[in-house]
This record gives sequence, structure tokens and C-alpha cells, in this order.
Amino acid sequence: MSSTQTHLCDHDNHAVPIVDLSLLHQTDPHTKSLLIDQIHQACLQMGCFQIVNHGISESVIEGALDVNSEFFDMPIANKEELMSDDIYKPVRFSTVQGNSPIEGQFFINFLKLYAHPLEDFVALWPNNPPHYREKMEMYTKEVMKLSIEVLGAIMESLNLAPTYLRDKLEQGFQMMGINSYPPSSQTNVKIGVVSHTDHSIITILLQSCSGLHVVDTSGSSSGGDGAWRVVPEMKGTLVVLVGDHLQVLSNGIYKSVLHRAVPSTDETRLSIASFHNLAMDEVVEPAPELMDEEHPKGYRGSSFQDYINHLYSKKEKTFIETLRLN
Ligand code: OGA
Ligand code: NI
Repeated sequence: MSSTQTHLCDHDNHAVPIVDLSLLHQTDPHTKSLLIDQIHQACLQMGCFQIVNHGISESVIEGALDVNSEFFDMPIANKEELMSDDIYKPVRFSTVQGNSPIEGQFFINFLKLYAHPLEDFVALWPNNPPHYREKMEMYTKEVMKLSIEVLGAIMESLNLAPTYLRDKLEQGFQMMGINSYPPSSQTNVKIGVVSHTDHSIITILLQSCSGLHVVDTSGSSSGGDGAWRVVPEMKGTLVVLVGDHLQVLSNGIYKSVLHRAVPSTDETRLSIASFHNLAMDEVVEPAPELMDEEHPKGYRGSSFQDYINHLYSKKEKTFIETLRLN
């Protein structure tokens, strides 16, 4: 799908579902089951949904966006010591640019921060601008807490216990990816991040303005046509994306969503992705409850470390393709 052929559509019928997370705390079982069903349909058909009433305050969200814009706005000399292309580094600032034969020229500045367990990493985070660590720590902790809640609901939507893997998720590995996209009116570059799926179980994404596109694979029966959909930015809303490891865990019931990011025309676009995984060496396997004769094990187990090694090996296949068993 080339960017020139791209057909963008945010018509209501194809809109990315919006989930009111406060309904999760409703005692009325009917309301809660409607919510779980909505999450099930969203994961099944779109591989993503937006969440409102998630409990993270506007000031925490704005604080995180503000300190990160300040970070990217600093002169390059202030960021030099964090510059690295070594993907094994827990904190690094870098730029990705190139020319994709399909999607054209792309450009992005990013900062990657290992984030959980926080005490292992926070001392390595930028300390300039001065409130950077404080503001990002607040956001990071809140998103971590939120991810446990969202994953509980996702497990229920798969007919698994809401506590399935909870301990391992709480001990899991969280990585923050902060992306800054210069306005396309200045660079003439129309793509920030080329289409990809995330390796995580889920990614929780905050965007300062619209620019996230997802492929709608919901199939012709429900109107999906494989076209790109815009995930519109709505103040305070977070986007949940199904990652490769949820595809594995659900034994292929949910598929990781193909997505990309485009810059805004006239403002710098910022996004903060929180990637949620099990611990580095912990293996993610399809849930035994989701396997039977008709649905044999579809993927081999793999860890986050395996993903990093895969990246490093620069294989032709995508990570999820290397995991498929049949
Ligand atoms: C990512 C990503 C999308 C965005 O960082 O993996 O897909 O909107 N980002 O920046
Ligand atoms: Ni992504």
C-alpha cells in the first residue's frame, strides 16, 4: 500500500472504538460484560481501541507531554551524551531516517527509556529539563498501573481469568518510546514511523495530535477493507494497541495491529508509547486454555530478549513470522 494510494477514512462505521474504562469498576455485571464484549470486538476487529475515563489526570498527561517537548527542543549539544544506536542501551536518544520503497521518505527523533522496574532505570533518564524525571516518572507509573487493569479486561475478553499472568505482568518490563515528528511543512517528509506491529503484549499510546494510522483488518463481513484508519487525537484519550506478544498469548485470536505514524503539517507531533511486556527473559506462550485439537499451538514461546536479539540480527522476516508454527 503506497502512501499515494492510501485511502484514509475515519467514517463512523470504521472508527476506532472508544472504551469507557470506568465501567470496569461497575458492580452491575451486565454493564461490565458489555464493556468486556466491546474490548473483545475491538481487539478482534481492529487490534486497537481508545480509552477514556482511564484515571490518569490531565495534569499528569500534560506534564509528560510538556517535559518531552522541552527535551526535544533543547539544542543537540544537551542531548549528545544520550545519543546511541545501540539497541541494548536502556536509555538512548536517536534519529531514524531513510527511504522506504513503499512508503517513501521517513524521519523521526526518538528517546527510548527502560521504565520498569523503575528504580533500576530512573537514574539513567535525562535530568534536563529539570523536571524531566519527576514528570515522566509520574506518567510512567500511572500507565504501568493502567496497563494491569487493561490487561485484566483483555484476559477476561479472551475468557481467561482476569488475573491470568497478573503477577508476571506486574513484574514485567515496560519501555517508554517518546517520538518527536517535525512538521512536514518544514521537512517535506510525509512519514514518521513506517508501518509495523509492536512486539509488546500491549502498547498504550498518547499522542499530542492526530497522526497514528492503523490498518482495518476487520474483514469484509464487518466492513473492514484493509484501509488505513486515522486514530483521531482527543484530549486525554489513550490508545491501546494489540502487540505481537498478545497475538501469541491469545494463540492468534487477536492479531497485532499494523500501524504507522505521520507528522502533522505545521506543528511538531509528539507521541509517548508505553510498551508492556513480561520480564526480559520471561517466555510468552499461547495460553493453554486457548488451545485444543481444532486450535493447536500456533506460535512458539519467546521473550522480550528474543525480540531484541531478532532486531539485532536484522532478519528478513518480522518477529511474529519467526514465531509462527503452522
Ligand atoms: C511506535 C509507534 C506511533 C506514533 O513508537 O511504535 O507506533 O503515533 N508510534 O508515534
Ligand atoms: Ni508502534
